[in-house]
Amino acid sequence: MEIFEKSYIGKCELKNRIFRSATFEGMCNEEGFPSENYLDLYKELSGNNIGGIITGFAFISEEGKAIQPGQAGIVNEKYIEPYSKVTSIVHSSGSKIFLQIAHTGRQTRERDIKQKIVGASDKRSMYFREKPKKLSKEEVVEIIEKFGNAALYAKKADFDGIQIHAAHGYLIHQFLLPTINNRKDIFRVDPEKELGLKFLDLIIDNIRKKCGPEFPILIKISGSDDYKRRFSEKQFSNLIGFLDLKKVDGIEISYGTMDHALNIFRGDIPFDLILQHNKIYKVESSFAKKLMKIFVFPFATRKLIPFSPMYNLKYAEIAKGITSIPIISVGGYREKKEIEYAIKNKNIDYISLCRPFICEPDFVKKIEKNENYISKCINCNYCAIMCDSKFITKCYKNNHGNRI
Ligand SMILES: Cc1cc2nc3c(=O)[nH]c(=O)nc-3n(C[C@H](O)[C@H](O)[C@H](O)COP(=O)(O)O)c2cc1C
Repeated sequence: MEIFEKSYIGKCELKNRIFRSATFEGMCNEEGFPSENYLDLYKELSGNNIGGIITGFAFISEEGKAIQPGQAGIVNEKYIEPYSKVTSIVHSSGSKIFLQIAHTGRQTRERDIKQKIVGASDKRSMYFREKPKKLSKEEVVEIIEKFGNAALYAKKADFDGIQIHAAHGYLIHQFLLPTINNRKDIFRVDPEKELGLKFLDLIIDNIRKKCGPEFPILIKISGSDDYKRRFSEKQFSNLIGFLDLKKVDGIEISYGTMDHALNIFRGDIPFDLILQHNKIYKVESSFAKKLMKIFVFPFATRKLIPFSPMYNLKYAEIAKGITSIPIISVGGYREKKEIEYAIKNKNIDYISLCRPFICEPDFVKKIEKNENYISKCINCNYCAIMCDSKFITKCYKNNHGNRI
C-alpha cells in the first residue's frame, strides 16, 4: 500500500490514506450549530489534500455534552442545513468528511451542562469527580435511538459517514469496561468476553437501520487504558472480533480515558497553563497554585506515559491480525517516514493525525513534496489544555518554536 493512492471505506472513495483525526474545534454556539470559523477550518483542511476528515466530537443529546465551550452538536433536523454547508465546502475539494458522534456520560459536569450527569453505573470518574445517575434500561434505549437519529441527520447533511466515539472513557467506553459497568440488566458485561457490548451492538444496529447498510460507520476505540484493572489484550482482541462480526467500515485505534487524559495525547505537561485554564484544576491565588504543584500534580501525573513516535501502532497491528476491516492508527505520527512505515511495513490501512494539523493544516501537501518532512508540532499540548477555555482550538506555538 502507498500513502498517496485511492482507497475505499465501504463505497466511499478516499484520495489518500491520511485522516485528520477528530479534533474538538470550540467553534460552535451553545446549541452546537457551526460558526463561520468552523466552516473556514474545514475549508482550509480540505483544501490541503487530506483524504478523510473526522470532525471534533458532536453531542447527540443535551445530557451528553462536554464541559468544553463551543462543542458541536447534532440533535434534531434543524442541524441538517447548517452542517450541509460544511460538507459541501469539503466535497468541493475532493476530501471526505465524517461526523464524530458522542455522548460524554460521566465525563462531564452538571455545572457546565446544566443537567444531571448520567453514566453506565453510578461510579464517578476520578477526573470529573461527579457522581453520575445510573441510566435506567429505558434511558439507555432512548440514547441508542438518539445515536441513530444523529447519524441520520449527519447522512442528510451529506456527511460521508459517521464515527462512533467509543474511546477515551466516554459513555460507550463506560459500558464496555468492567471497571465501570457493574450493571445486571441486558447492558451488563459479558463474563466470557469481559466486555459490555450490548449498548454498542444496538447503537450500530440502530444506525444501520436508519441510515442503510451502505452508509459508512467508523468507530474509535481505545487499545488499552491506565486503570488498576487495565484493559487487556484479550479484551481488546474480543472487541475487534465483535466489530468484525458487526462489519463496521473502519476502526480507529487510540488509547486511554479522560481519567488519565494526557496519556491519550502524550507530550509536555504545561502545569501553569493547566492551573490557569483547566476547568478542574483552575485556581486563582498563587498560594493555591503552589499547593497544587506540590500536593496534587505529583499524584495526578504519576501514571503518565512519555510521548514516543507512533505510540498506538502496536494495537493496530494486533487488530490487523484479527480482522480485514480497514484499520486507522492514531497517535504520535509526526513524519512522512513514520506514516510510510506503518502503511508499507505494518500493513495499516490509514494513518490519522490530530495535533500536526492544528499546527500545520497543509501537512499533507508538505509531505507530498518532501520525503523528509517533519511536523512542526512539538507536543506542547497547549492546544489540548486550551480546549477548556473560551478560545477556539489553535496552535499556540509560532514558527520560531516559541509559545505565543
Ligand atoms: C486539541 C485536541 C482535541 C481533540 N479532540 C478530540 C475529539 O473531539 N474526539 C476524539 O476522539 N479525539 C480527540 N482528540 C484526540 C485526537 O484525535 C488524537 O487521538 C490524539 O491527539 C493523538 O493524535 P496526535 O498524536 O496526532 O495528536 C483531541 C486531541 C487534541 C490535542
